[in-house]
Order: sequence, then C-alpha cells, then structure tokens
Amino acid sequence: HGTSRINDQGNLEIGGVDATELAAKFGTPLYVVDEALVRQKARQFVEAFQASGLKFQVAYASKAFCVMAMCRIAEEEGLSLDVVSDGELYTALQAGFPAGRIHFHGNNKSPQEIEMAIDAQIGCFVVDNFIELHMLNAIAAEKDAKVKVLFRITPGVSAHTHEYISTGQQDSKFGFDLGNGAAYRVIQEAKELSNIEILGVHSHIGSQIFETEGFRMAMEKTIGFATKVRDELGVTFKVVNLGGGFGIRYVEGDTPLPVAEYVKAITDGIQTHFSSHNYPIPEIWIEPGRSIVGDAGTTLYTVGTSKDIPGIRKYVAVDGGMTDNPRPALYESKYEAMLANRANEANEEVVSIAGKCCESGDMLIWDVNLPKVESGDILAVACTGAYNYAMSSNYNRIRKPAVVFVKDGQADIAVKRESLDTIVGLDVIPERLQKAV
Ligand code: LLP
Repeated sequence: HGTSRINDQGNLEIGGVDATELAAKFGTPLYVVDEALVRQKARQFVEAFQASGLKFQVAYASKAFCVMAMCRIAEEEGLSLDVVSDGELYTALQAGFPAGRIHFHGNNKSPQEIEMAIDAQIGCFVVDNFIELHMLNAIAAEKDAKVKVLFRITPGVSAHTHEYISTGQQDSKFGFDLGNGAAYRVIQEAKELSNIEILGVHSHIGSQIFETEGFRMAMEKTIGFATKVRDELGVTFKVVNLGGGFGIRYVEGDTPLPVAEYVKAITDGIQTHFSSHNYPIPEIWIEPGRSIVGDAGTTLYTVGTSKDIPGIRKYVAVDGGMTDNPRPALYESKYEAMLANRANEANEEVVSIAGKCCESGDMLIWDVNLPKVESGDILAVACTGAYNYAMSSNYNRIRKPAVVFVKDGQADIAVKRESLDTIVGLDVIPERLQKAV
C-alpha cells in the first residue's frame, strides 16, 4: 500500500527508499513514515468534505502520533488539530501550528493546561464535565477572555467495531449524558456564563469502525438534542463534531470503507437530518487519527535469536516489542509482517514474533507466514503509524526508536533515537545515597 513496493534488489522499498538501507543507516527498531501516504489520506478527507459544499474542519487527532514534523504536515494539508494534554499542545505550538485551529480535548484538564491554552488563543475547548466548565469560565474571566466551546456528549451509541450497543456508552468516563439530561443541563448552565461562547456539540462513538451506521445513529441523537435545545433554551449549534474512529486495514479480514464513503455518510446525514428539522446546517468537524497515520507507518526490526519447540511453535525474537508497539499486548491487536531484505522469497515457515522485554506477554505477532527466518533479517511490521510511537514506553529501560519520514527517495529524521543518557537523564541520586569519594 502507499508508496511501498518491492525493488529490483528484492527488498521492501518505502517512499522510494530501500528499507534495508534505512535499517543500516538509522538502526533498528525504526519507525518509518510514508509521508506521501499521510498526505494522501489527509487530502481524501478534505476533498470529500469539499465535495459536499458544507463548512467543515478535519482535525487530526494528534494522540495517534504527535511529533512536530507531523504537526507541520497536518498544517500544510489544511487540517486542524485535536490535542488532549499540555504535551500535545506544546508540541503543536513549538511546531508553529496555528493556535486557532487547535481543539483541546480531555476529561481532566488541569488549571495550568487551561491557562496555557487560553494564553495561546486556541480555537476551542471540548468541555467534558461540569467542573471543567466552571473552571474554564473562571480562568477565562481572570484573563478577560471569551472561550469557544463544544460540549462532549455521550449519545448512547457505542461502536464496537461491528456491533452497536445502544445504551452501553452511557457508562463512560467521558462527556455529558444525553439520556439522563446532563447534556441539557450543561447548556443551560453555560448559557449564563459570560466568558463562554457555545459553538456546539461533540461526540465520539469509538475507534476502528468499519461501518457508517454508528455515525448515522449519533447524528439522529444529535439533531434531536439540538432541536430541543434550540426550542427550549434558544441556543443554536453552529458546529457539530462527530469525532474520529474511521477504520483501517491492519490484516486480511479488516474491511474499512474508503474515506470518501465515511465522509459522504456524515455530510449526507447532517444535511438530511438538519434540513428536515428546519435547522441551519452546522459546520461539520471530524477528528480522524488512526485513518490518517495508521497505514503510513512501518516498523523495522532486526531479527535476533529464535527458539524452536518442535511440534509446538517457533519463536523469533526481534530487537523491539511491546515498548515500541504495546497494542498486541494491550488489545490483542493483529499485525502483518514481511522480511524487508527478502521480500521476493516465498513463505516457508510459520513463526511467532517475540519482543525483547522480560515478559511472556511481549509478543508482536502470533503465527505469521515468512520465508525461512535468520538472525540479521530485517522484519517489517506494517500499519504501525498510529498509537505505536505515541504509546511507546521505556519499560525495561529500553530506548525508544527513532522516527524517519520517507518521501521521493529521501529519508529524514523526525524523532531521534533515545540514547542511554536519555534513559538516565532525569534520574537523580539523592545525596545521602551517593557514594562517598
Ligand atoms: N476523537 C476523540 C475524542 C477520541 O477519543 C479519539 C480516539 C479520536 C478522536 C481518534 O480516533 P481514531 O480516528 O484514531 O480512531 N489506543 C487505542 C485507540 C484509542 C483511541 C482513543 N480515542 C488503539 O491503539 O487502538
């Protein structure tokens, strides 16, 4: 997919660069990002909205992969940015991302985070609960600012990839419940606050969604709520944000829709629902994360040891694992892999890919078909662009890999590899524990 192909040497090539050369030059494990594919996915979203003629914002959910280079690409592609912490906000601001296009999410924003965001003049806050609303109003008042807000509502729709549970989502740490009236009450309260400007509502029904049904249900609930709020409270929503969750193909059997189909279902749905209620068509915002960066990422590992248990299983260990990709251990996520240095060779054996952490659960892939694997081979695991680097850790004091962006035959470092000094960089030995000299 993307710009990946097998070159004349029989090696995997990404963005016009031979993956084995990337491994040799930058070391492994290595995250490789296919920049053209990221931009292509971003454009698919933007163009699908443009085709609808509606006003929109496509906010990249930076939690999926938030580094300064990625913020630059998001900006160049005309995306907005969804951040959920001071760290993500700081990354965006340091990259020069236009603050007015930043949306601040999160169910427990600290007063310091709120101050930082107001000072930076970000575009809007997605308010999650009553305490936040009043804190935000108070801090805004101190700063003589008026802040724009969306309210995160839980529409009682939860997408579990294929099936939808209609009330399950009520039991969530996020947002204001539609069913029990909390969502109505927060609009009532916010209306009276002089430093709050109500833009509209937000909902996010889940992640890795392969259908449009959940979005349709969320839109139905939203228009019902919007109409009630307009008629009874005199508040008209200018923005409806439907969150992210658009699925990607990790392995065979994953059946995401083309980006344009998700967007068309949303824009058609909004037009139909709001016009049938004589409601002015709001701006539509969405927040794709995984679907922008997920399949653009590939992780390269060097194969080290292996252990064959005849008749049972062959374990092949690589130089990374749950520290750079915790998703298999956390969610039993499935991945596909190939040997980057023998991309043309026929598969010969079924092996299981182990990481190097001192933990049995540190397995990247169970039962993958590969050519006869040898020490020194370069294993490429596909679709690691989202929630991999973003969720990486230093467990076992393993250093986080570097990230390179490849495009048109060029490879550039976007994040440097951690060093052993990075590992001890924040450690302090209290004086009473220091060795006497
Ligand atoms: N908007 C909100 C409010 C969200 O909570 C999320 C994801 C997104 C947008 C982006 O969703 P996406 O388009 O990426 O599906 N760590 C998990 C995924 C957690 C998603 C959390 N929220 C994983 O590795 O699968």
